[in-house]
Amino acid sequence: MTEGISEAITEAMPPWRPLLRAAMQREGRSIAARWVQVATTGRDGAPRVRTLVFRGWAGAKQLELFSDQRSEKVKELTNDGASELCWLFPKARQQYRLRGKVELITTSEQPELCQQRWQKLSDTGRAVWGWPTPADPLDPTGEFPEQLAETAPLPKHFVVLRLHVDTVERLNLGPHPHQRTLWRADTLWREQPLNP
Ligand SMILES: Cc1cc2nc3c(=O)[nH]c(=O)nc-3n(C[C@H](O)[C@H](O)[C@H](O)COP(=O)(O)O)c2cc1C
Repeated sequence: MTEGISEAITEAMPPWRPLLRAAMQREGRSIAARWVQVATTGRDGAPRVRTLVFRGWAGAKQLELFSDQRSEKVKELTNDGASELCWLFPKARQQYRLRGKVELITTSEQPELCQQRWQKLSDTGRAVWGWPTPADPLDPTGEFPEQLAETAPLPKHFVVLRLHVDTVERLNLGPHPHQRTLWRADTLWREQPLNP
């Protein structure tokens, strides 16, 4: 979605990006190819995980997700933002684990960026931001719109989660033996094969 913006041109592409892209392309038109599992540490110190939609790249190693600022995950990410994202590509039989810090881009800090991302969503995609506070007890009289038009005002709880990737691990079940590879930003993404 955000590929092609100036940051992407000036920053060198890490070696794992074309591999991930190829794995994603093998999924064809499957919507599940854009579903990622995002892990955080709960406010009680216990692990938490949930599915989010991959929304695009912002630069060579920054990945964007969208969420609701009122949700628990966003509260969990306000400390140091540490997160791991697990991305499974069943056709390629590959798993990617992307680790890093999540930057929270709010509507008050970067209204123009949020507005641009908001308008790119489909009417159905936008609707969930029109729903009552996530995880509150269900109020049967609450309003849950099915669609929100492009012209709907940007909700102040819309938030862009930008993962600054610093570590990538790929497991490829295709060959025998399986291939496990580690890249880290602090070694300039030097490829390190590992035992699977
Ligand atoms: C296929 C799928 C896609 C989802 N995409 C998103 C998303 O892009 N953003 C989001 O905030 N929640 C998304 N959710 C809902 C989350 O998984 C989660 O239930 C919700 O965000 C509350 O999480 P939390 O209580 O950990 O904050 C999606 C759920 C599914 C099943």
